[in-house]
Amino acid sequence: MPDVIEKTRLPFAQLECSSEEQLHALFHELSQLAAREAEAPPTPETAEKFRIRWLGRQDSVISRITANWLKPAPPDAKKWVGQQLNRLRPILEDLAAKSKKLAESAALETAAARDTLDLSLPGITRPLGTQHLVRQTYEELYRIFGSIGFSVVEGPEIETAYYNFEALNIPEHHPARDNMDTFYFENLPRSGAQACLLRTHTSPMQARTMQAQQPPVRIVVPGKVYRRDNPDATHSFVFHQLEGLAVDTDITFCDFKGTIEYFAKEFFGPQTRVRLRPSYFPFTEPSAEFDASCHVCGGSGCRTCKQSGWIEMFGAGMVNPAVYGFVNYDAKRYSGFAFGLGVDRLAMLKYGIDDLQQFFRNDVRFLQQFP
Ligand code: PHE
Repeated sequence: MPDVIEKTRLPFAQLECSSEEQLHALFHELSQLAAREAEAPPTPETAEKFRIRWLGRQDSVISRITANWLKPAPPDAKKWVGQQLNRLRPILEDLAAKSKKLAESAALETAAARDTLDLSLPGITRPLGTQHLVRQTYEELYRIFGSIGFSVVEGPEIETAYYNFEALNIPEHHPARDNMDTFYFENLPRSGAQACLLRTHTSPMQARTMQAQQPPVRIVVPGKVYRRDNPDATHSFVFHQLEGLAVDTDITFCDFKGTIEYFAKEFFGPQTRVRLRPSYFPFTEPSAEFDASCHVCGGSGCRTCKQSGWIEMFGAGMVNPAVYGFVNYDAKRYSGFAFGLGVDRLAMLKYGIDDLQQFFRNDVRFLQQFP
């Protein structure tokens, strides 16, 4: 006994349908079958397959019934077949449309599910990095000098000999140039004011700033500086400085010392004392090295201060009037002071780090100790 679908392939004469009831039963079976098939959750593909199988133009249930049953049926049977066919078609069309719609909304739902945010806890956490200790030290320095009116300016790391040396009262062949083994750029003039180099200190920004503005000046200049040094526990070919410059009418040595003392107490603690030793820089006169009382032993002598009780902090001095000549400042009216801090060195002292190279290694075991 061929199933009801197979029967649509037979010509009407072989159906052995002699009554309207039999024919009705056949169509009923077809519509039942279609309804069952349409029950399964559809995808856009299965919905389309359903439509083609039942309603398509070629070789579908409807097209076969039309060709095999309706056309060859004898006149009175033709009427029944026609009636049944007209009843079945809209049922199938309805089922096909529903399947299609269902499939589409299901597809939308899957897409929506794919796009939803996963808000379940605890969620994905990405570990936040922290500031490098050198950066943290800079921030601390900005805070300290910012609190007494200094603002932060930055300058170029590639400098000319003019700003790095000449304008700071270090003429060519001056022995002070030898102290700062300099990286010069190749294929560019190595001598003369226009020679290009990696700045050996942040002091060129003294000259640049004064050239660009009249007093009052109160600036600090952070930045990398470069010297031809072999790396070891206290040397590196690149390190960090903070330059300070204050120029105004009536700035005295007392303002200078008071500022440095304020800095030392803020940075190392209120019990810190400072002292000055004479020094030499071509761009300051008089020049000084500042020492701070050892923050580890308080001055009684320990390993950090090599038993001296004092720690060398940095070079500084009153701005040499000769420098004013390069920047068109009236040396009779204005006076000021300048200092140049080694930021890495200060961080090493404050945090008890014995190897400068740690700052450049990017070893997280080191970095994580300073969150
Ligand atoms: N530029 C000097 C250096 O790098 C430090 C310094 C700055 C000294 C300002 C005096 C005044 O050694």
